Amino acid sequence: MTHRILLTGGAGFIGSHTYLALVEAGYAVTILDNFENAMRDVPDRLQAITGKPVPVITADIRNAAQMQDALGQGFDGVVHFAALKSVGDGENNPLGYYQSNCAGLMNVVQAMEHHGVKNIVFSSSAAVYGATDQMPITEDTPLEPISVYARTKVFGEDLLSAYAKANPDFHVGILRYFNPVGAHASGLIGEDPSQPPSNLMPVIARVANGQMEALQVFGDDYPTVDGTGVRDYIHVEDLARGHVLSLDALFKNQQGHLVNLGTGQGHSVLEMVAAYGKVSGREIPYNILPRRPGDPAVSFADVARAKEVLGFAAQHDLSTMCASNWAFSSKEK
Ligand code: NAD
Ligand code: WQD
Repeated sequence: MTHRILLTGGAGFIGSHTYLALVEAGYAVTILDNFENAMRDVPDRLQAITGKPVPVITADIRNAAQMQDALGQGFDGVVHFAALKSVGDGENNPLGYYQSNCAGLMNVVQAMEHHGVKNIVFSSSAAVYGATDQMPITEDTPLEPISVYARTKVFGEDLLSAYAKANPDFHVGILRYFNPVGAHASGLIGEDPSQPPSNLMPVIARVANGQMEALQVFGDDYPTVDGTGVRDYIHVEDLARGHVLSLDALFKNQQGHLVNLGTGQGHSVLEMVAAYGKVSGREIPYNILPRRPGDPAVSFADVARAKEVLGFAAQHDLSTMCASNWAFSSKEK
C-alpha cells in the first residue's frame, strides 16, 4: 500500500531533499509551503529531477482553516518541517517564532486529529541541548534550550509527546538534527533561502562565489583543535534518508521514537573553510570576530540510538558535503 505523506515546509532546504528521498522510496508525497523562505521554482526543479508532477498546496500553517483543508485531502502521515529557524531572529521576534513554530504546529495537530491522520515526523534540533559540555550528546542529555528558537522546538516535542501519550494510536518520530549541509547530487536543489543566511556553510558559499567579501569567524579561543567552534555537519541527503527510515519505522512498528541525526564526527570552522576551499578551488578570506553569544564550543551527536532504532548511519563525508554545496551554489540561477 502506498502511504500518502504531507510535507509541511516541503519546499525548504531539508524538505525538498526529503521529498526526493520519499518519492524514491515509493511514498506519495505532497508539499505544503507558504514560500516565505523558499524559492518559488523549487517544485519545478523537483519535477525536473523526478520527471513527475509535484503536488503542492500553497498554504500557511498559522491558518487553521487552511490546515483543515489540507489535511482533509487524505494523508496517512505528516512530516512537519515548516518553521522559522534563525536563532538570532527568534530573539528579536519571539511572537513570530511562537506563532509559526508552536501555534502553527498546534493547527497541524488539530487538523490531523480532525481527519484521523495518525503519524507525524517532527523536525527538532540539537539546539534543544543548549551549550551542554557532555560529548557526545545522547538523547538523554538534559535539555537546556538557550534561545527562543530552541524553546519553540522543546515546546513542539512536549506537545507531540503528550498528545501521543494521551492517544496511543498516534505515533510521533522526533528527529533532532545536528548541522545539515550540502546539496542534492543533481546540483538542482540545495540550501537556497530567500532570507539572508546565518549558518556557516551558506555563508562560506557566498564568500566562495564572490557574493560576500569574507567570512566572519565567531571566536578562535575555544578549547578546540584550532580554537574555532566544532559541529557535527551532516549531509542533507543523509538526513533526508533518515526521514524515510523514520516514517518506515512509524508505519511498521506502530510506535514512536526520538533520535539524534548526525554523523558523530565534529569539524571546526577552520576545517570547514579548508575543506570548502579545496573542493571549490577558491580562496575563502576570513576575519576573526568575538564569540557569538550562546554558541557552544563543541557539539556532536551520539549516533547509537539512530542506528539501533532506525538502522540509520550517515554515509557522506565532509568533502562530499562541501562539493555538493559548491556544485549548487556556483551554478547560475
Ligand atoms: P527552511 O527555512 O529552508 O524550510 C522551512 C520551510 O518552511 C520553508 O520552505 C518555508 O517557506 C516554510 N515555512 C515557514 N513558515 C511557514 C508557514 N507559516 N507556513 C507554511 N510554510 C512555512 O529550513 P530547513 O533548514 O529546511 O529546516 C526545516 C526544519 O528543520 C525546520 O523546522 C527547522 O527548524 C529544522 N531544523 C533545521 C536545521 C538547519 O540547520 N537547517 C537544524 C535543525 C532543525
Ligand atoms: C556553525 C559554526 C559558529 C556562521 C544552528 C542552530 C541550530 C541548528 C543549526 C536549526 C559555529 C560558526 C557560523 C558564521 C561562524 N539550526 N560560524 N561564522 O550555531 O551550530 O547551529 O544551526 O535548528 O539550532 O543553533 O550552526 O552554522 O550557525 O554555526 O564562525 O558566519 O560556525 O560560531 O561554531 P550552529 P551555524
